[in-house]
Amino acid sequence: MNDKQLVALHAAKYVKDGMLVGLGTGSTANFFIEELARLQQDQGLKFTTIASSTISAQKAQSLQLPIVAIEHVSSIDLYIDGADEITPDNTLLKGRGSDLVKEKLLAKAANQFIAVADASKLVSYIGQNFTIPIEVIPFAWQMAKKNLEAVGGIGDLRPNAAKDGFWITSHGSYVLDMRFDASINASTLNALINNTPGVVEHGIFHQLTSLVLIAQDGVVSER
Ligand code: A5P
Repeated sequence: MNDKQLVALHAAKYVKDGMLVGLGTGSTANFFIEELARLQQDQGLKFTTIASSTISAQKAQSLQLPIVAIEHVSSIDLYIDGADEITPDNTLLKGRGSDLVKEKLLAKAANQFIAVADASKLVSYIGQNFTIPIEVIPFAWQMAKKNLEAVGGIGDLRPNAAKDGFWITSHGSYVLDMRFDASINASTLNALINNTPGVVEHGIFHQLTSLVLIAQDGVVSER
């Protein structure tokens, strides 16, 4: 069993009968979804799920997990999701794909948000390994970019896969992939991006986790 699967199985122990559980997106979250299906089938565990992306919803449905749509829900019991980066103060970078809007809604709506990852995701500062994905309203991208550049951001619109247009997220936004100076801390950067007109959402998840589970060489630690 690899570390991603191990940490996902560990996280599944937090699921209790009757819970409404948020499903993350990515390979670690997929292991968690598979474990939920096993617990439902083998142990009769009862829960309802809510997905952070179409791909996770499809996976849940294919495994016969009960699922509700996000528009019918204002709070959830538990959200389990992976991350692209995790800093020492448990700030996360997420949203390499197209789904950070729902991911952040679920992270905030959850009584308990548990981030799960292998040790490859540990970094010293946000933006160390990846650019920060910033979803913007399409017509606002130039103004948003200029305002982000004014606070030191460097980057551009994400191209689509064919490189003949721009990437469009699940919710119809463009994505600015930006780098910032490593000396700007996550809290300041979070506030700067939040305060930029035209920004729909971005990938810095600051002070949202209840717990972070890290698997390294077959051992899971909680922090
Ligand atoms: C999805 O948008 C991201 O936030 C994921 O949580 C992240 O990419 C983790 O993916 P893996 O579990 O595949 O590493």
